[in-house]
Amino acid sequence: MSQPDPRINIDRLIAELQCLAAISDCPEPPPAVTRVVFTETDLRARDYLTGLYEQAGLAVRVDAIGNTFARWEGAEPALPAVGSGSHTDAIPHSGMYDGTVGVLGVLEAIRALKSAGAQPRRSIEVLMFTSEEPTRFGMGCTGSRLLSGAITPDELAQLRDSDDQDYDQVRQAAGFNGPLDSVELPSEYYHAFVELHIEQGPVLEAERLDIGVVTAIAAPAALQFTVTGQGGHAGGVLMPARHDALTAAAEVTLAIERLAQQSRSPDLVATVGQLDVHPGAVNSIPSRVRFSLDIRDINNDNRDAVVREIGVQAQAIAERRGVAIGSRVLNADPPAIAADSIIDAVEAAADALRLSHRRMISRAYHDSLFIARVAPTGMIFIPCRGGVSHRPDEFSTPDQIKAGVQTLALTLAELAK
Ligand code: GLV
Ligand code: MN
Ligand code: MN
Ligand code: MN
Repeated sequence: MSQPDPRINIDRLIAELQCLAAISDCPEPPPAVTRVVFTETDLRARDYLTGLYEQAGLAVRVDAIGNTFARWEGAEPALPAVGSGSHTDAIPHSGMYDGTVGVLGVLEAIRALKSAGAQPRRSIEVLMFTSEEPTRFGMGCTGSRLLSGAITPDELAQLRDSDDQDYDQVRQAAGFNGPLDSVELPSEYYHAFVELHIEQGPVLEAERLDIGVVTAIAAPAALQFTVTGQGGHAGGVLMPARHDALTAAAEVTLAIERLAQQSRSPDLVATVGQLDVHPGAVNSIPSRVRFSLDIRDINNDNRDAVVREIGVQAQAIAERRGVAIGSRVLNADPPAIAADSIIDAVEAAADALRLSHRRMISRAYHDSLFIARVAPTGMIFIPCRGGVSHRPDEFSTPDQIKAGVQTLALTLAELAK
């Protein structure tokens, strides 16, 4: 490949990752990070990133929900651009690499290409997505869903957070005011889209490989269950008279785990990660419990079959215990398939850099899941220690990050030709 050698300034990039990690609401110091969408902290992180993009000479534009675009104009700016990006929001008590390696890595890739004298024909555009994580509104990837038309402005506006504020109120209070129907990307906006991300799984490290070339992203679904029982005095109500919402929720949670373990699909994973107990007092029988279900598979038919069986078992538990159990599907998305053109470009870039690589599936979801609906899309994975993610000890070495950024730089340069 006759590309400029991308000279990555890895010390600068690591310093920027550390600065970003310090913008956090986590009670623990970095590398523990909490950065929830539309909080003051999220806004400070956005300001930091926007400042860096502008310093690098990129033209920044922000859409009505805060998706942030930073463009290096190509020689033929009217052509569909090549996009790359990820997210800066971070779930409570998580790590400093999820998403951030993508939004800062592409900046470093662009700086390296610029300083090597590259002049792309197509514009190269950074895209920092609003709210990849589902922390606040129960649904992940709200920025990329709206950009790709996967959710309507009305559906998005009505999502509610745990303080019962709707998405529209919250985004406007955060200073993002334009009409929601202006967010969807025009057709053929991107010629190609590539997201750089840590693997969030153990495969690359175990196989001592530098680069994962993503071929597909697993299909995620999220549900919210509500169990309604009977509250009462923890001393006064004898055990035979109880209709405890929490013990019913516990039994459903165990049924979910069992069904996931027994699924014929090895790719099926299910997690109950949030539980809200009402009234939440030591000496009061729980009268209402809300809990989340995150369930995924490469194949959405397998996933949906397990969701149906969970519903059947939940109703049996409800009847036996004399409680009511309802559920609501927040999202149930199909998987995404990466474009051959991007897979080929990433593999060629890794080969040119003499980096080892393999094709693999992404079990985590990413904004690329939705951008793949509107543009040829692919992802570059780098290893992370122990496959750990969504934890403060999430870690990739500077060399691993550098390899990912170099691969991204060459891939972008090739796609922008
Ligand atoms: C996103 O972080 C996911 O849960 O895969
Ligand atoms: Mn994440
Ligand atoms: Mn992520
Ligand atoms: Mn993700």
